[in-house]
Amino acid sequence: MTEDRPSTHDAEEDARNRDIRIYVNGDIVHRDEAKVSVYDAGFMLGDGMWEGMRLYNGRWAFFDDHMDRFFDSCHAVGLDVGMDRAGILDALTRTAEANGMTTDVHCRLMLTRGIKDKPFQHPKLSTTGPTLVIIMEHSKPAEALAAGIRLATVPQVRGLPHSQDAKFNSHSKLNCIIACLQAEAAGADEGLMLDPHGFVNTTNACNFFIVRRGEVWTSTGDYCMNGVTRAKVIDLCRENGIPVFEKNYSLYEAYGADEAFLTGTFGAQTPVASIDGKAIGDGSRPVTKRIRALYADLVRRDTAG
Ligand SMILES: Cc1ncc(COP(=O)(O)O)c(C=O)c1O
Repeated sequence: MTEDRPSTHDAEEDARNRDIRIYVNGDIVHRDEAKVSVYDAGFMLGDGMWEGMRLYNGRWAFFDDHMDRFFDSCHAVGLDVGMDRAGILDALTRTAEANGMTTDVHCRLMLTRGIKDKPFQHPKLSTTGPTLVIIMEHSKPAEALAAGIRLATVPQVRGLPHSQDAKFNSHSKLNCIIACLQAEAAGADEGLMLDPHGFVNTTNACNFFIVRRGEVWTSTGDYCMNGVTRAKVIDLCRENGIPVFEKNYSLYEAYGADEAFLTGTFGAQTPVASIDGKAIGDGSRPVTKRIRALYADLVRRDTAG
């Protein structure tokens, strides 16, 4: 997050993004005209859900997985999407067409509870129906990420599901933002968050994996985002004979890992160079490279015409 350091969502500069068109409740307008009300529940309270997705070859990678999570999240908080997944796909298609976009596109699909009558918390004050916004940008993860990012363990945890379940991809990201700020203050690019028991859990914006002695480890999944990329990596390991475990482990094992990487829709698999100033492995990263190649091939197959 410091100026000359990458963050996990850095993309190559693309001037076309200055003139993108954004979907706002059925209208598709220039980004300078795209506005929501200050009474919107998303702005006022962070009351909304979102998905990050990528478009390749005119197709949305793992569309059904993203829609499963999105509709489950909205259902769990009584947020009426107002359309089915075919309607969402139609809105995405219209937005992509309006932008002439077909590949290397990242999209943030956002749904809030809509405009409120009064500036207070109760959901019933949102009376207009939901607000749906789709931002699509030309997006290739920055080359600098390939060198690996620096993590710092942070005091902020992702907690138990009966506070705010980490599986909600909610507009309110304050928990993650606090972790990100703590990492930045520690001189790192992203925060490594523990679970309530002190085991290694996830980062403020991605899921987290280590490689030890040829085995791939990630957290149990109880306290982190149920990442689509995380699930794909676990499946790919299983299908390709790479031992993979969802388990509790501590910083002791993370510091001593041969490799570590983050997963997320934006960056696929991003290597980790260091944790708390300790270099991870020798930088050769053979297992991460193999998983990256397997994942790239999976995306190609999923988005083939
Ligand atoms: C906190 C957090 N963890 C992990 C992820 C990665 O999830 P996915 O692989 O579905 O992009 C995200 C992305 O939304 C996230 O916000």
